[in-house]
Amino acid sequence: MSHLLHIDSSARGTDSLTRQIGARYVAAWHRQNPEGTAAYRDVALDVPDLVSADWITGVFAPAEHHTSRTRAAVDASAALIGEVEAADVLVLGVPVYNFSVPAAFKAWIDQICMAGRTFAYDENGPRGLLAAKKAVVVRASGSDFGDPAFAAMDFHAPYLRGVLGFIGITDVEFISVSGQTPEQVEAGLAEADRAIAASLKAL
Ligand SMILES: Cc1cc2nc3c(=O)[nH]c(=O)nc-3n(C[C@H](O)[C@H](O)[C@H](O)COP(=O)(O)O)c2cc1C
Repeated sequence: MSHLLHIDSSARGTDSLTRQIGARYVAAWHRQNPEGTAAYRDVALDVPDLVSADWITGVFAPAEHHTSRTRAAVDASAALIGEVEAADVLVLGVPVYNFSVPAAFKAWIDQICMAGRTFAYDENGPRGLLAAKKAVVVRASGSDFGDPAFAAMDFHAPYLRGVLGFIGITDVEFISVSGQTPEQVEAGLAEADRAIAASLKAL
C-alpha cells in the first residue's frame, strides 16, 4: 500500500496555483491508489521552527550538553522527518518567491536535513539516507524561467533537486506553471492536468 505526503507552502489561499494543482495531483493519485493513504502539512499556516542554537546543540553536541530544550527542538525535527520517511511519494507545492523557495518551505527543508538521520558523510563523501521515494514538485512562478532572460535567476529548481538529492530523494519531477494573466493561468492549469496524468501513468 502506497503512502503520499502532501506539503503546501503558498502564502495564498484558494487562488494559489500550487495549492490547486497539488490538490488535483493528490485527488488523481487517490483515484489510482484507492487503498493508498495520504498525510498533509501546510507549512505556510504551521511554519516549522527555524534552526536554533538548541537544535544545533541537540543534533551535533554530545549527550551531556543536551537539555529539555535541545531534546524538544530535535523531537520537532524528527517528527517532520518521520512524515517524510513514511511516504513513498512526496507532492511538494512550492511557489517561486524571489527566485527561490518560500521561507516557510526552507524552514521545513532545514528541519528535515539532519546529520545521521537523513544524510551522512563517509569516506566517499555525502550520502543521502532516504531511499526509494519520488518527489513531485508543483511549482508556480510569475516569470517563464524557460526564457533565457530569467533562466540564470532560477535558484528554485536547482536548489530543490540539489537538496532533495542530498538526502537521498533523487527521483524528482517538476510540474510547473508560469504566468499571471487569466489566459496564462487557464492554459497553465490545463497543461498541469496533462502533466499530472503523465506523471501518474509513469508512477
Ligand atoms: C513574495 C512573492 C515573491 C515572488 N517572487 C517571484 C519571483 O522571484 N519570480 C517569479 O517568477 N515569480 C515570483 N512571484 C510570483 C509567484 O511565483 C506566482 O504568483 C505564483 O503563482 C505563486 O504561487 P501560488 O499561486 O501557489 O501562490 C512572487 C510572488 C510573491 C507573492
